[in-house]
Amino acid sequence: MKARVLSGIQPTGHLHIGNYLGALRNWVKIQHDYDSIFCIVDLHAITVYQDPAALKQQITQLAGLFIAAGIDPKSSTVIVQSSVAQHSELAWMLTCMTPLGWLERMTQYKSKTENQDTILSGLLQYPVLMAADILLYQANIVPVGDDQRQHIELARDIAQRFNSLYGETFTMPETRLPMVGARVMGLDDPTKKMSKSAAGTGHSIGLLDTPAEMKKKIMRATTDSNPAVDFETMGPGVVNLLNIFQAFTDWSDDQMKNHFSGLRYGDLKKAVLEAVVAGLEPIQKRYAEITADPAYLNGVLREGAERVRPIAEKTTRLVRERMGIYNID
Ligand code: TYM
Repeated sequence: MKARVLSGIQPTGHLHIGNYLGALRNWVKIQHDYDSIFCIVDLHAITVYQDPAALKQQITQLAGLFIAAGIDPKSSTVIVQSSVAQHSELAWMLTCMTPLGWLERMTQYKSKTENQDTILSGLLQYPVLMAADILLYQANIVPVGDDQRQHIELARDIAQRFNSLYGETFTMPETRLPMVGARVMGLDDPTKKMSKSAAGTGHSIGLLDTPAEMKKKIMRATTDSNPAVDFETMGPGVVNLLNIFQAFTDWSDDQMKNHFSGLRYGDLKKAVLEAVVAGLEPIQKRYAEITADPAYLNGVLREGAERVRPIAEKTTRLVRERMGIYNID
């Protein structure tokens, strides 16, 4: 039996090259080696207010992007989180045995709630729901970007606590980061992670940006005061541009050094632009074809939910049994 992979992306805003290089592209690469489940996590999205009409649209858009990027729905399963009710059910059962302090420690929670008057409790529970996504399917491997590492550690802690309280129930999941691209930084400010919610038009490159938009953003990207690439002294902006190039081209470290040492920043940016455009063009083309047929996408999502529901039912039944909660025979 193949080991199981599970991961998810929130249907909030436009997917950017950080999401692609940190997660989606890695999923495409490894999907056939595993029993793979990829989730559109709409219940995570609503931990921050979402316009209902926009959210609905973003869910199908994200399904289209998964497939356009190369997720093969014949062998991998694509689901919308909310369409398998057991995600919420397990999240509640895990919430009841997760110490509050574990959640208050999460760095993403701390940064998302900074300077906010009203903190919604969903934001605090967010990583428990994520743990439920993973543990529900007894996933072995969770391919994500670097920013999700702490949440997966928490999922392991929750699994361990449950197993020791109630007996062996959950598989221990492991984090899988990509070799290059685990942490893509903002083009305008390379000290900040590229993020869907960041303000500013020059911050991120969307998977559906036009080449002209990409050009504008990349040519304006922050570098440093050196005139050309120097691998010894380069600042975070140049490191980021080189990382983006390397992730898109799969060049080796030696190739990178030989080609880019001493290259002026204008030429570096042109090379990055070319690599990004070439990498995203086929995805954009397929995306246009796929979204021309919404019935197809709905079919993929319905089939996905049907495929995994028995696994979800089996786990929640076992958890109910273990915790002493009522199971209908
Ligand atoms: P989300 O939607 O914020 O991001 C989706 C994926 O993209 C990665 N990522 C990045 N990688 C590199 N550089 C960046 N700048 C960058 N920004 C985002 C993230 O690490 C992630 O892999 N909580 C998760 C979604 C989730 C999930 C799960 C993931 C819900 N349930 C179960 C794995 C397993 C999130 O908000 O990802």
